Amino acid sequence: MAGCFGDGFCVGLYPVGGDVKRITFSRRQALRGSLALSGLLVLNAVRKFLGYQEPTTEVRQLTLDVPEAYALGSATAVPGGHCWIVRDAGGVYAVTAVCTHLGCLVNEDEAGFACPCHGSRFRLDGGVTHGPAVRPLAHLAVSRTAEGLLRVDMTQQVAVTERLVVG
Ligand code: FES
Repeated sequence: MAGCFGDGFCVGLYPVGGDVKRITFSRRQALRGSLALSGLLVLNAVRKFLGYQEPTTEVRQLTLDVPEAYALGSATAVPGGHCWIVRDAGGVYAVTAVCTHLGCLVNEDEAGFACPCHGSRFRLDGGVTHGPAVRPLAHLAVSRTAEGLLRVDMTQQVAVTERLVVG
């Protein structure tokens, strides 16, 4: 509880360790305190609006099903949702799910991928069809393990034309 008086000073009563202390401060200090608090509230609102999501996992290599398990024309989210496995006529490729705008994870939609944060849209090959993102989704290196399974290297980007040929 606090109150200010005509002589430019404010008095507040604050609980401190089971006791109530009386604190005196100037009207200017009270104004600075409220401005700082307002600034923090505005910054928090902006952060929430931008919807930036810090990547929560540090996945480097993924070993998945055999490449033949992915149907022609399909897009399949990998466990954890950090990339998508797509199969087209050229073969299988992995495209990151991390939106190039501010890092949210994209979802599949009827024409490719859509970002739930600010509405960017991408084709299945990662190309941008609608902003605010301006850069395409990155393609990640894929290979076949000795056991014939699909491996994705989340640390290595490749050209959008690279495919793992599926027999
Ligand atoms: S994070 Fe903003 S559109 Fe994807």
